[in-house]
Amino acid sequence: MASSSSDQDNAAPGTDGAFDAGLLARIQTRVVGRDRELEAVVAALAARRHLLLEGPPGTGKSTILRSVAEEAGIGFEFVEGNAELTPARLIGAFDPAAVLAEGYSPEVFVDGPLLRALRNGSLLYVEEINRIPEETLNVLITVMSEGEVHVPRLGPVRSSSGFRLVAAMNPFDAVGTARIAAAVYDRCCRLAVGYQDSDDEVRIVDVAAPLAAGSLGSGTLRSVVDLVRATRDHPDLRTGSSVRGAIDLALVAAELGSLREQEPSDPGVTLDAALLALSGRIRVREGSSRSAEDVVRELWERFLGPPVAAADPGVPAEPGNSGKA
Ligand SMILES: Nc1ncnc2c1ncn2[C@@H]1O[C@H](COP(=O)(O)OP(=O)(O)O)[C@@H](O)[C@H]1O
Ligand SMILES: [Mg+2]
Repeated sequence: MASSSSDQDNAAPGTDGAFDAGLLARIQTRVVGRDRELEAVVAALAARRHLLLEGPPGTGKSTILRSVAEEAGIGFEFVEGNAELTPARLIGAFDPAAVLAEGYSPEVFVDGPLLRALRNGSLLYVEEINRIPEETLNVLITVMSEGEVHVPRLGPVRSSSGFRLVAAMNPFDAVGTARIAAAVYDRCCRLAVGYQDSDDEVRIVDVAAPLAAGSLGSGTLRSVVDLVRATRDHPDLRTGSSVRGAIDLALVAAELGSLREQEPSDPGVTLDAALLALSGRIRVREGSSRSAEDVVRELWERFLGPPVAAADPGVPAEPGNSGKA
């Protein structure tokens, strides 16, 4: 097992050989826009710093990190952060059956993602880090400050050169955000990631669902993206939809259109696709009397409804659902 100084401060920049001049250009073939963020992530990782990405869901945090890691050829261990991520799941554990036969020997220890990343000198990529239990977070803090983790009956496992923690989180997540201690922030570089502009969101849907986007046509695709963006500052909504909602809307409209032998951009098709794709993603504000479906219909009328404010015969009339087209 290779070992190195605990915090790798003395490593010369770029000595992994992974951060060559063509790297940014290669990443840009996979990630729409985000030039500034990509540069920042590449610089932080080339400098071998731990990195925290903060931003709402669907803003491309995972896409950015995966693309950088894959194009730079750095191995990475992916961990979904949630309340079940115990220290044992992160670190690994002795195989109980093998322990009965052979005792606590290192050969029967099954490495978890943290130990694999430490030994291989790769990235440990933790999604939604603010959701992990406090004791698991403490393991990560110890690794970041000591450069090693001590596993009972196995002993210390030191970090190989190249190990870095990269974490993503939604700062507006209701679950436990406050627990991200100053100790974590103090050991990481931090990048805030916000929503992209509408041109880039149109391109993202185009990249994620090229056939569906093409079948909708560029005008309707633009309206789909504008509709989804409008959910983010609608007065009746607490939570709007990310670009994932626009991707789903396009994909569902394409399938519905072909089932009904209609154009995917047909108003009846886009309305049902919008309800399917968005009504579960958006959250109505406490105190608002409206339903999610009602708000989706309103926005659909504004962005995708037929030009004349005629009621769609397929849609049951609802109070409060008029006059917005
Ligand atoms: N900049 C981007 N370039 C290409 N695809 C993107 C970009 N941003 C988001 N996406 C697409 O949007 C979806 C959500 O992105 P993701 O990276 O998972 O967001 P996050 O991790 O912030 O929740 C994915 O399907 C992804 O392919
Ligand atoms: Mg993600």
